[in-house]
Amino acid sequence: MPNDQFSIGTVLDPTVTRLALAGLRATPKTLPPQLFYDEEGCRLFYRITGLPEYYLTRTEWSLLSGIALRIATAVPTGAVLVEYGASHEAKAARLLAARDRSGARVFASYVAIDVAAPALQAMRTRLAITSPDVAVHIIVGDFEQPVTLPESLAGRPRLGFFPGSTIGNLDPAAAQRFLELARDELGAGSQLLLGVDLRKPAAAVVPAYDDAAGVTAAFNRNLLVRLNREAGADFEPFNFAHRAVWNDVEGRIEMHLVSRCDQVVRIAGESIAFVEGETIHTENSYKFTPDAIRALAESAGWTLRDRWFDEARRYGMFLLAAC
Ligand code: AVI
Repeated sequence: MPNDQFSIGTVLDPTVTRLALAGLRATPKTLPPQLFYDEEGCRLFYRITGLPEYYLTRTEWSLLSGIALRIATAVPTGAVLVEYGASHEAKAARLLAARDRSGARVFASYVAIDVAAPALQAMRTRLAITSPDVAVHIIVGDFEQPVTLPESLAGRPRLGFFPGSTIGNLDPAAAQRFLELARDELGAGSQLLLGVDLRKPAAAVVPAYDDAAGVTAAFNRNLLVRLNREAGADFEPFNFAHRAVWNDVEGRIEMHLVSRCDQVVRIAGESIAFVEGETIHTENSYKFTPDAIRALAESAGWTLRDRWFDEARRYGMFLLAAC
């Protein structure tokens, strides 16, 4: 295949290429889920959050509306809200709107941490209009790595915020590491509000990851489109089927891309062979019991202060306090 196939409109990304090659050389083959979130992936994920099958976002949204007042009384006025993985301010805005009895804003500052710099800039611009009295700080970085909170916020009460059940996309060791990191960053006296998808029968989970309109399938296949563009690969995305499968032993839903035939894909000059039926494991989404969340929190230096569930007990919000 001529190399100049990639010469127009193609920006090869060495990090994407390295991550992709490492995953595709492994047995079984994997791709890291952070590669989902290019511009098109963010757009598709946003569509997923509005799908009838994807109960997580709307359930969390209504829970948050109900508990914002309760959070306001649990956090001292003048506090800092620190959101991990903040790609849109919509959920944080529910908390930022909280007022104390005197009518003063509970949160004077908002720190948004995410790898997507353009999304963070856009959030800051919108918040300057909608909440001009909240000091907004953006930190471009991976929340799984240590971050330094702004010096100017030292000594202020802090509420960490990790919504969306993103904790479920981390494997158990990484979830514990993240909670330990957040505990260290937020410090003594801080609290953390965690949004968590709860364990439930497979039949209730699988459609959320394999919707009738095929948006999640497109989200999954977009990984391959991204590798064609940014890692010089030549995947034929429709040669791979989307599969969402419940793993009862691990308590997680897995997403895979299943090779529909024997095929060889070129990526960064390397040949990767697939046999028919072989899968690329692209994502895990762990589902938790409330007891498992309590145990995880306690293993990372937090105690459970409060928790709220929707009526069907599909989803939970957990308020943790630093030990
Ligand atoms: C971002 N994360 C919490 C989503 C989830 O439910 O695990 C990502 C996702 N994958 C497929 N659909 C949504």
